[in-house]
Amino acid sequence: MTNGATSQLRSRSWFGDQGKNGFIARHHLRTLGFGDGAFDGRPIVGVSNTYSELTPCNSHLRQIAEAVKRGVLQAGGIPLEFPSMSLGEPFMRPTSMLYRNLAAMEIEEQIRANPLDSVVLLTGCDKTTPAAIMGATSANIPTIIMTGGPMLNGKFRGSNVGSGTDVWKMAEDVRAGRATKSDELELERGLNRSAGHCMTMGTASTMACLAEALGLTLPETATLPAVDSRRLALAEAAGRRAVEIAGSDLTPLRILTRSAFENAALVNAAIGGSTNAILHLLAIAGRASVDFTLEDFDRIGLEVPLLVDLKPSGRFLMEEFSDAGGMPALMSNLKGVIEGDLITVTGETISANYSNARVWNNEVIRSIDHPVMPAGSGTVVVRGTLAPDGAVMKISAAAPELLSHEGRAVVFDSIDEYMSVVDDLDLDVAPDDILVVRNVGPIGYPGMPEVGNLPIPARLLRQGVTDMVRISDARMSGTAFGACILHVSPEAAVGGPLAFVRTGDRIQLDAHQRVLNLLVEDSELAERMEGWTQEITGTERGWTGLYRRHVTQAHLGADLDFLVGSTESSKTRKAF
Ligand code: FES
Repeated sequence: MTNGATSQLRSRSWFGDQGKNGFIARHHLRTLGFGDGAFDGRPIVGVSNTYSELTPCNSHLRQIAEAVKRGVLQAGGIPLEFPSMSLGEPFMRPTSMLYRNLAAMEIEEQIRANPLDSVVLLTGCDKTTPAAIMGATSANIPTIIMTGGPMLNGKFRGSNVGSGTDVWKMAEDVRAGRATKSDELELERGLNRSAGHCMTMGTASTMACLAEALGLTLPETATLPAVDSRRLALAEAAGRRAVEIAGSDLTPLRILTRSAFENAALVNAAIGGSTNAILHLLAIAGRASVDFTLEDFDRIGLEVPLLVDLKPSGRFLMEEFSDAGGMPALMSNLKGVIEGDLITVTGETISANYSNARVWNNEVIRSIDHPVMPAGSGTVVVRGTLAPDGAVMKISAAAPELLSHEGRAVVFDSIDEYMSVVDDLDLDVAPDDILVVRNVGPIGYPGMPEVGNLPIPARLLRQGVTDMVRISDARMSGTAFGACILHVSPEAAVGGPLAFVRTGDRIQLDAHQRVLNLLVEDSELAERMEGWTQEITGTERGWTGLYRRHVTQAHLGADLDFLVGSTESSKTRKAF
């Protein structure tokens, strides 16, 4: 274990000062009731809490925070809890992704501005985990990520049901006349049985697993259920560990090496992780100044088969994953594949952290020799004349017969335009057509909403069609499924080829060959592009204006250009 070097505690420049500034800092901290012993050189551990009733997934984080603080006190530190911007996936409009970078910037600046020697960052719902990691990486003081854990399995008529995945299925069943609104209400009542993030392998579960794979959490943090008492014990341990690493050099930039990102990409392939994870990992790599690209994902994804049988790619949910041994068991199955010598927040290597782990249910967590799906069946990167900078497709969640497909484009300029006709039984669309929706990218929407799993047109639903090729510059929920090509880059709003597709054009997809081509002559395409001007003026006010002027394209992680890279903690300026 790496112990903190108290001589390097940042907080001493606030509370150890024997002049007027120290006097002021100390008497203000005494407001909380701390006595003289608080100022004898103990580490100050910040506990960032994304608790919010507007983020139901994180509604148990007050209890988790109390456990972390208990651990800090046990180890002789001073815990100071502070609220951080909470991003509630189901409620925020136009999309929580518009605010990921804002939350990251807020956490970075809170850490930098305050007298903190280490931090435990409490996260859970979708964007809160990547935002916290991005901010912590840029602030770069010792950090432990404490994800809130997945909610309990949903229940519906004697079966387990999963967030998102079973919602999308029910919604399509209702539209197709296979289920009633009363069936839907029954599902609605039984789906969310506890606090915690979505319990399918959606973005929240994926990012929790990847945070652990990166080495930023204590082992098993990703998978224990949110309301399991063992999670409170884990939170307590995180608090104790945060005291040990306070003031040390065990910071995110030391942990987040290129090999750590390669491990994360391998784990992402093994868990059938969310397509959103690619955006988030690219953004985190950008903060860490690690050269990690879309191509790295694609290449690394070929090395590992799908080992975890979870929805939306498989059958089970996070509770079963945890019961089967959780992340420790998966990491033990990946021994020899992942780089085991990398340092983690425990002060031990990945190999040491998981040396005693075992798999308790090898149906849920498979071995490399007995995978759920073969290597290369997770998320792949496709490129071509329609997506020169790449696009992604989760092939494990798509109908196999659509992975190699050529069809007629049916094009919509906005998601609103598409939704206004999706239930029109006279819509001119056939099962082998390719739906294209544009202007739903980072700048175009703005914020790149999760609409890329376009609902199947009602006319086709009634014919029994359950999947078709859909292309957009949007994202899709990690809990969703379908032959959806997402994150097309460059997006239509900046003049990517997607902006110039017309209904009737032919599009060629070959996911196995990683090809996505618009089958239009170069001269014809050049003619269509001539005279195009970007409509985004960059004059909008506030956060949205700043975001639109500075957000990078999807293949770079959609971070703000001026937040890429990191700085060591800035000098502590004295306020008085
Ligand atoms: Fe919070 Fe899904 S709604 S993780």
